[in-house]
Amino acid sequence: MSRTSLVTGAASGIGRATAALLRERGHTVIGADLADADIHADLSTPEGRAELVDRARELTGGRLDAVVSCAGVAHFDPLTVKVNHFGAVATLDGLLPLLTAGTDPRAVVVGSVDSVHPTDPAIVDAALAGDEEAAVAASRAAVERGEGHLLYSSSKAAISRWVRRAAPSGAWAGAGVPLNAVAPGVVVTPLTRPLLDDPEMRGLVERSVPMPLHGHARPEQIAPLIAWLASPENALVTGQVVFVDGGADAVLRGDQVW
Ligand code: NAI
Repeated sequence: MSRTSLVTGAASGIGRATAALLRERGHTVIGADLADADIHADLSTPEGRAELVDRARELTGGRLDAVVSCAGVAHFDPLTVKVNHFGAVATLDGLLPLLTAGTDPRAVVVGSVDSVHPTDPAIVDAALAGDEEAAVAASRAAVERGEGHLLYSSSKAAISRWVRRAAPSGAWAGAGVPLNAVAPGVVVTPLTRPLLDDPEMRGLVERSVPMPLHGHARPEQIAPLIAWLASPENALVTGQVVFVDGGADAVLRGDQVW
């Protein structure tokens, strides 16, 4: 049966590959992004987040079968937390009423293996408390102390923990909507290209995200897992952060996660 899916970050990288795979499989896909998409919305702002939901409602008649929240950035700037955590939460919560009107509804957010790296608890706690102003202030403070690299890992840890909390709740599990995250390792996209093209930064990336199985990924290798989690075949997987990282999490965290 044809499904209607909405993908944010659909103009590039993992979002584009996911949108293409879902279209190949016969879905109607509504792409959202800053430009080159069906819905143009800036998910770093309250206005953009509202625009996403309003336009999605107009375009679908108020019914969606799957939502994939993929839009993200990796800057030493509070924007990273605004888009990667608050933009994703607004996408998922904002579109939940459309999902509950859909058929076999599913939601997936793209986290990152970086979520297992050191984070700034002040950013993560503020994000989980839903306090965007405090999260932005904590992000600014981290940048000022020369710890801008913590913003990305903190944003991805926060959204992963949000998924763990939200998925089993009445709003999601109670409404019959599986909600999961995928956590890619290093994927070659416009987000990582500048790092991978710089020999010194590439070495740093390889040491911090070791990928013994197949090395750095292509977006097309991440999309099938997202598509499965977003499909009716996934009846029971919820609240999970599924690492799709060539073994990076297994190397970094070993067997001490239980
Ligand atoms: P990308 O840069 O190719 O695509 C990201 C898309 O998000 C772009 O089209 C961009 O315009 C959109 N976007 C950025 N800010 C936005 C905003 N304020 N409002 C709406 N859309 C916005 O990057 P890539 O690599 O495909 O990343 C997709 C997701 O995967 C991100 O959440 C990223 O953090 C995550 N990820 C990427 C990894 C990688 O190695 N490339 C590894 C792990 C996670």
